[in-house]
Amino acid sequence: MAKFDFSKRDSFGSKIGVIAAAAGSAIGLGNIWKFPYITGENGGGAFLLVYLACIALIGLPIMLAEFSLGRKANRNVFGAFKKLAPNTGWYWSGVLFNTAAFTIMSYYAVVAGWIFAYIPRSISGALSGQNFNEAFSNLNSSTVEPLIWSFVVLGLTIFFIHSGIKKGIEKYTKILMPILLVLMIILMIRSVTLPGAMEGIDFLFAPNFSALTPGGVLEALGHAFFSLSLGMGVMMTYGSYIQKQENLQTTSLQVVIADTAIALMAGVIIFPAVFAYDLEPSSGPGLIFITLPGVFNAMQGGIIFQTLFFILIGIAALTSTMSLVEVVASSVTEQLGISRNKGILMIAGLMALLIIPNSLSYGAMSDVTLFGHTVFGVFDFLASNIFLPVGGLMIALFLGWFYKLKNIRSEITNEGKYRFRLAGVYNYLIKYIAPVAIVIILLYATGILSKLGWV
Ligand code: PFF
Repeated sequence: MAKFDFSKRDSFGSKIGVIAAAAGSAIGLGNIWKFPYITGENGGGAFLLVYLACIALIGLPIMLAEFSLGRKANRNVFGAFKKLAPNTGWYWSGVLFNTAAFTIMSYYAVVAGWIFAYIPRSISGALSGQNFNEAFSNLNSSTVEPLIWSFVVLGLTIFFIHSGIKKGIEKYTKILMPILLVLMIILMIRSVTLPGAMEGIDFLFAPNFSALTPGGVLEALGHAFFSLSLGMGVMMTYGSYIQKQENLQTTSLQVVIADTAIALMAGVIIFPAVFAYDLEPSSGPGLIFITLPGVFNAMQGGIIFQTLFFILIGIAALTSTMSLVEVVASSVTEQLGISRNKGILMIAGLMALLIIPNSLSYGAMSDVTLFGHTVFGVFDFLASNIFLPVGGLMIALFLGWFYKLKNIRSEITNEGKYRFRLAGVYNYLIKYIAPVAIVIILLYATGILSKLGWV
């Protein structure tokens, strides 16, 4: 087998490229439809406080851990554990991370595909005057159309990343992320200037501590992982492409702030508009594909805003799928020593196969279930509730207990160039707080806590 030449490894060319790519991965469907809804539902400002605490105490430390371990190793996820912990079982974490990437990609591309299907429908005005519920179920229950759109998502992702890091991921995220930001600002201004918008702002921000349940707290923690793309080696892989002179502490902080700011902005776009038109905020896909088309239908110039909105989410989704495929692409090309193009084509073939049952879960294969869940439901459950928390736990245990902070300190401080003022607190968070919190989410997500009657 040919050996990969690590001296020729690609890297990000600039600090702004690192931020665009990493924030691009973090900012995705999770920010735009999931975060606003779970915030509104779980007590608005009260939930937000808990979410911010989870991000600061667990998300940020794990992000820094992934970046620094990745950069220190300068390898894909398999290679990284092999280099940092030779002849140990840690190498197998690579299997978990790659499996998580495949699993998330297989259903994420389906939802992103529905978004892409709504772009031409918005431009042509085909949605207006329809029953939005029916229009959405006609799309997702059919066989061919949603599948084609998911393949378009996969195809675009591969197109963007095949040329590598500088000429691929960095180049395109640097173009796409500013567009995303501008679209968000336009839509936010439109939304908050609608009559009656304040009710939506209240729904999102007014703290209602009585609506915050223990389940809501754990949901905040689980969502922090998903939203920041942690626990599956994305940030470790991206970290491995960050140049030695960059400051990883500020980079982690900036990515976390960008992700949270965009999630809040999404809420400020969605809820004022929903309340201004007297609609009920619904959850999950229904919010984007059913409720919002109703809002845009009633709004003057709605076609334009609706089109911009779907383009915006389409971009957010693509910059996330790029990172999912890159975890596997780097693993396959470096471990097997095959060319990037060949590796990516192999991965794409396998992902395309996995996308099929996920896409058909709402139509032809809706009867195929496991524990009462469709294929899509099983993949989503496994990824969000098992793989990401277990992956995050591995990172925390690896750094906190096995590799130890003292050995990564020079990577975090760039050989002493930057101070690491919070090293003591960091050590405590990564060794104790993060692992304990993650084990609790795992027990919750698998229903064990509720069987014990604790939540
Ligand atoms: N962070 C993305 C979102 O919020 O939509 C989803 C995601 C991408 C999760 C990449 C995990 C990942 F590795």
